[in-house]
Amino acid sequence: MRHLLDILDLTTEEIGQLINTACDIIDDPDKYAEKCRRRKLATLFFEPSTRTRLSFEAAMYELGGSVLGFSSSSSSSTSKGESVSDTIKVVSCYADIIAMRHPKEGAPMVASMVSGVPIINAGDGGHNHPTQTLADLLTIYREKGSFENLTVGLCGDLKFGRTVHSLINAMSRYSGVKFVLISPEELKLPDYVTNNVLVKNNIEFEETTDLLEAMPKLDILYMTRVQRERFFNEQDYIRLKDSYILTPDKLEGAKKDLCIMHPLPRVNEISVAVDNDPRACYFKQVLNGKYMRMALILKLLEVE
Ligand code: NCD
Repeated sequence: MRHLLDILDLTTEEIGQLINTACDIIDDPDKYAEKCRRRKLATLFFEPSTRTRLSFEAAMYELGGSVLGFSSSSSSSTSKGESVSDTIKVVSCYADIIAMRHPKEGAPMVASMVSGVPIINAGDGGHNHPTQTLADLLTIYREKGSFENLTVGLCGDLKFGRTVHSLINAMSRYSGVKFVLISPEELKLPDYVTNNVLVKNNIEFEETTDLLEAMPKLDILYMTRVQRERFFNEQDYIRLKDSYILTPDKLEGAKKDLCIMHPLPRVNEISVAVDNDPRACYFKQVLNGKYMRMALILKLLEVE
């Protein structure tokens, strides 16, 4: 039985296969409409979500399956003191596959140790978010045609932004990829990612606080929200929240084929005036996320 806890649980070949399946679903959705008939997905969200939970649910419905679950820990027995392990043992009796989001780093790993069915990490604290990375990868593939030789700018909260950590892990495996890490000093990429992924694998990267100066080099600009819920105090959040706001004038020096991404939800990081720019890809990312989650469910359920 396979789980998806970390994006590196999938080989690059497997990521390529998921992208092929997702592209085939886009071309011929009817072929997939009954693939998960009589199968059930449980979405256990101990933390808020719009896109991730609803896209998992839409993905399962489009495969002909059904969905059960909860969207906040307050509406589950967690509020009575039930442990993650017990909740998972119980839900394994009802569902064929589980997508879970939890505020604690490592909770999906604990779940996988007791679960009778595949576990998908739909975000664990400030750690990882592998299915957002699948959405990001399909977007990059459809916009750029390949993953190689791209300069990827990551901007905003690189410390707590779990989508950033997973994307760096995934993109580091393709040749010629360079990273420009743009953040305030306090929200720099954690050392465990810088050292264990970038330095260890000899990946070219630079750290800067200056988005404008970095702009002309970038093929991808991945904006992120400052993760308010992970801050220890509100003053620091207020001081840092508007560190970077992407507006049309800041794109003057950017490449004509820049791909602007954001995992969403956005707060202030991208002005709505950028939405009409043909380089804005963040709403395409949302749709790509559904296709990749469909492909992932098929793979983990071993559906032909
Ligand atoms: C992200 C997350 O939950 O980490 N959202 C998402 O799943 N698309 C990003 C965020 O909350 O800022």
